[in-house]
This record gives sequence, C-alpha cells and structure tokens, in this order.
Amino acid sequence: MPTQKYEGNDEKFADPVAEQPGYDNTQSRIAILGHPIHAMSVAFPIALTCCTLFADSLYWWTGDPFWARGALWAIGAAFLLGIVAGISGTAELLLVSGIRVRAAAWTHFIIAVTLLSLLGTNWGFRLSGYESAVLPYGILLSMLSVLVVGFTGWHGGKLVFDYRLGTSKGN
Ligand code: HEM
Repeated sequence: MPTQKYEGNDEKFADPVAEQPGYDNTQSRIAILGHPIHAMSVAFPIALTCCTLFADSLYWWTGDPFWARGALWAIGAAFLLGIVAGISGTAELLLVSGIRVRAAAWTHFIIAVTLLSLLGTNWGFRLSGYESAVLPYGILLSMLSVLVVGFTGWHGGKLVFDYRLGTSKGN
C-alpha cells in the first residue's frame, strides 16, 4: 500500500482546527481604541519580577534591609498586576473564537497560570518576615520566577507574531 503524504500544499490535507467556525476571527476584543489591554498590561508583571531579583541580589550583596523591603513590594505588585493581566488575557481567550480554538493559546494560559502561582508563592513566603525570607529561598524563587516570566512573555509574543492573535485586521 502506498504511503500517504500530508504536505502543506497537498489538497487532501485538511486541518480540522482550521475548519472550526470563527477560526479567522482573531482580532482583540478586550481593547481600548483598538489597543489590546493584555499586551499593555503584561509589561508591569514582567518588569516587576525582574526588579524583585535585582532587589534580592542587592540585599544579598549589601545586607541593607531596604532592598529586602523593596523586593517584598516588587513581588507583591508583580503578582497583583499579573492577575490583572491574566484576567484580560483569559477574557480574550474565552471571548474571541479564533483565539479560543487554537491550542497554542491554551498552552500560554497554562504557562501563565503556573507563573502566577509562582509569583503568589514568592510574595506569600515573604509576608511573615521579608528579610529572613530572601536567603536562600526568596532569591531562588525569584530566579525561577524570572525564568518562567521570560518563557511566558516569549510564548505570548509567539501568539502575536506567529499566529497574529489579538492583532487588528485593518479595514
Ligand atoms: C493567565 C491567563 C493568560 C491568558 C489566557 C493569556 C492569553 C494571551 C493571548 C490570547 C495573547 C495574544 C494577544 C491578545 O489576544 O491580546 C497573549 C499575549 C501575550 N501574553 Fe498572555 N495571557 C495570560 C497571562 C499572561 C501573563 C501573566 C503574562 C506575563 C506576565 C503574559 C504575557 C503575554 C505577552 C508578553 C504577550 C504578547 C503581547 C504582545 O506582544 O503584544 N500573559 N496572552
């Protein structure tokens, strides 16, 4: 029996996901004047997670409690603003048919929820003693948080630049 080839331009090949109704509807709905709120809000948790590792490192280096307190505020704000970003992303995922139907969008959701759990743990761990929490576990959690936030942001970028999710189609 001859083997069947499934190539991109083969007429016999049909992607069942692309057959779903609303597959091409990928334009952002959670937006202000056409600018997606999710894309605008993710910058804050990403930057604040990096600031937490920076503050932890300076505490380790100088021993100045100012940096441990700074890290506590930075990771708390990263977590809360991450939740805000997550709400706008989840609304986009559930409301836009062309986003909802793509597996990559759900992969991003799973990575992002893992990140939010990690940020919440990193914050909660410091609440009962922000100075004693930094070494060693606080700074280790911050290193892991920076790795996971980088992965989440990179993957979110793929949704926009590779799949063109949440972008405007123009007129
Ligand atoms: C928790 C649930 C989340 C869901 C369901 C979600 C969903 C999405 C979707 C659908 C997009 C495509 C663009 C759009 O439609 O606006 C996107 C982009 C993106 N996401 Fe998320 N997201 C979540 C959380 C996060 C978090 C916590 C971060 C990082 C802190 C993040 C980082 C990004 C980035 C960097 C982009 C690319 C934005 C751009 O380049 O314009 N996402 N996300």
